[in-house]
Amino acid sequence: MLASKRILLIIGGGIAAYKSLDLIRRLKERGGSVTPVLTRAAEEFVTPLSVSALAGEKVYRDLFDLTDEAEMGHIQLSRSADLIVVAPATADLMGKMTGGLANDLASTLLMATDTPVLCAPAMNVRMWDHPATQRNLKQLQADGVRFVGPNEGDMACGEYGPGRMSEPLEIVAAIEAELGNGPLSGKRVLVTSGPTHEPIDPVRYIANRSSGAQGTAVARALAALGAEVIFVTGPADVPPPEGVQVVSVETAKQMSDAVDAALPVDAGVFAAAVADWRVASASDKKLKKSRDGLPALEFAENPDILKRISHLEKCRPALVVGFAAETDNVIEHATAKRGRKGCDWIVANDVSPATGIMGGSENAVILISDAGAEEWPRMGKDQVAERLARKIAKALTS
Ligand code: CTP
Repeated sequence: MLASKRILLIIGGGIAAYKSLDLIRRLKERGGSVTPVLTRAAEEFVTPLSVSALAGEKVYRDLFDLTDEAEMGHIQLSRSADLIVVAPATADLMGKMTGGLANDLASTLLMATDTPVLCAPAMNVRMWDHPATQRNLKQLQADGVRFVGPNEGDMACGEYGPGRMSEPLEIVAAIEAELGNGPLSGKRVLVTSGPTHEPIDPVRYIANRSSGAQGTAVARALAALGAEVIFVTGPADVPPPEGVQVVSVETAKQMSDAVDAALPVDAGVFAAAVADWRVASASDKKLKKSRDGLPALEFAENPDILKRISHLEKCRPALVVGFAAETDNVIEHATAKRGRKGCDWIVANDVSPATGIMGGSENAVILISDAGAEEWPRMGKDQVAERLARKIAKALTS
């Protein structure tokens, strides 16, 4: 809820501005008040009248408006909110913010404020990927500006990739988390992620192709809803998200110990691709080629972390979510796996090479629970994570 929270919403000039109209509605539904500011370019996409009607407040548009300045000067306007939200945050607005320009009302407010700022970027994929935008993003993050999105998907310009503004409900969730009001505030959630490396000798190991992208996205989405996240990660390709407690491990055994140390938690999401076996007695010296033939590796079984946690008598998290990476008969195998492991939900996906899911940026999952199998459309891993996080929030708070 956002009761009595004041949000200054700066709407930039991009096609995604139409989503900001819905964003205003969603914020008002939750009891927030919205003071809208439109850039000149934004007025090409949405009208001041529709924005004002939805917000139930005056729209601010001009830096040099004498009436506005007399009623509430731009300095006061910039500081009277609990949070400033820039949605859509265009490449131009991000550039101005980074460079410290103040040549219109929106950029002047952003320069004059000491209120936290949350940006929801929206732009063409090439503009998002452009080194200038990526440089600006890094600088703004370093300056303390928070970001939600952009999402990956089909864009209004006909291209595909990252650059789509987050959906209004995702922005609402990020706003609630920023204001300490996320649905998962006060909840502690554990996420395992990435592959494990099982040593053969000091220089060789057994691994798998997990990039850690899905687990990382889940941890980020849970934190965005206000959860305290303990992120236990194997050696992943992607960096851990910000705002979570990171515990880095290498082997399944270390991951298992780190999970135990994180208990108790309200929910556990086990997204790691844990190696089922380790080399029974890894050599402490590099194995050398020998005339006696090839080395014979003997394996030992690793602890099944998900199964163990699901069966804990004391300290079992209220919700245990496992993942199932399958290559055939996905629903059948994953349903059986849910029974075997004893977890509440299984997020199943088809990782056959043809799907491009393992190591890719998209996922097509089936959520298996008591209620049966729920197929989600193929979408970005971030979106899968956000949908899963919202579902977890619902389960923990209902
Ligand atoms: N998992 C775990 N510890 C293990 C192995 C798996 O916690 N030692 C968890 C994974 O994080 C995932 C789920 O169990 O949430 C399913 O993992 P998967 O490797 O697909 O299951 P397996 O038990 O290995 O089943 P199979 O090899 O038959 O597919």
